[in-house]
Amino acid sequence: MKFFIDTANLDHIKTAQDLGILDGVTTNPSLMAKEGITGNDAVKAHYKAICDIVDGDVSAEVISTTYDEMIAEAHVLAALDPKIVVKVPITVDGLKVIKTLASEGIRTNCTLIFSPGQALLAAKAGATYVSPFLGRLDDICQDGLNLIEEIREIFDNYDFTTEILAASIRSPLHITYCAKLGADVVTSPLDSILRLLKHPLTDNGLAQFIKDSSNLK
Ligand code: G3P
Repeated sequence: MKFFIDTANLDHIKTAQDLGILDGVTTNPSLMAKEGITGNDAVKAHYKAICDIVDGDVSAEVISTTYDEMIAEAHVLAALDPKIVVKVPITVDGLKVIKTLASEGIRTNCTLIFSPGQALLAAKAGATYVSPFLGRLDDICQDGLNLIEEIREIFDNYDFTTEILAASIRSPLHITYCAKLGADVVTSPLDSILRLLKHPLTDNGLAQFIKDSSNLK
């Protein structure tokens, strides 16, 4: 399973990259705004800065909603760096954009996926990734993990090469469950990745080993 970090924060991206387990980055307009980035030039510079840090794919989301505008934006984003994957919402126009970009060899991440049917359409259109939002389903008392399971079954039925990129991760448990269910990628905030490392018995065991090793020197 690939690990992506879901942030536009350069320090968090560097920390995850230094861990040696990072396969890519996902961003969205809200995450970019959270970093205080404003204006088209600043946005492009920020995507370039992210691409300079990571070795893998970097999802950059379009902010328009009509076919023509999204295609124009996608071309600008894709030209920034070969690592860029254009993130497109699952709408009627979005689906057409994915189809066109696929025919041009531009990779896409179809976002805001909340149902298996949406994922099926995105895969059919040629999306590189689909991003089901687990946490936001959990937030409204629906089973986000069940969505991963359903999409996995559908994609396997037809050998779709579209990768399932589990997003809107709220906890380290989400990550391990996604791995069990066969998600291809999990994108998560740094906090959940770091918490995956932690176990009190590891801390206690290491403290004991350090104590006992004092007589071995
Ligand atoms: O990048 C998309 C997704 O991961 C958003 O997560 O926490 O805003 O639901 P969240």
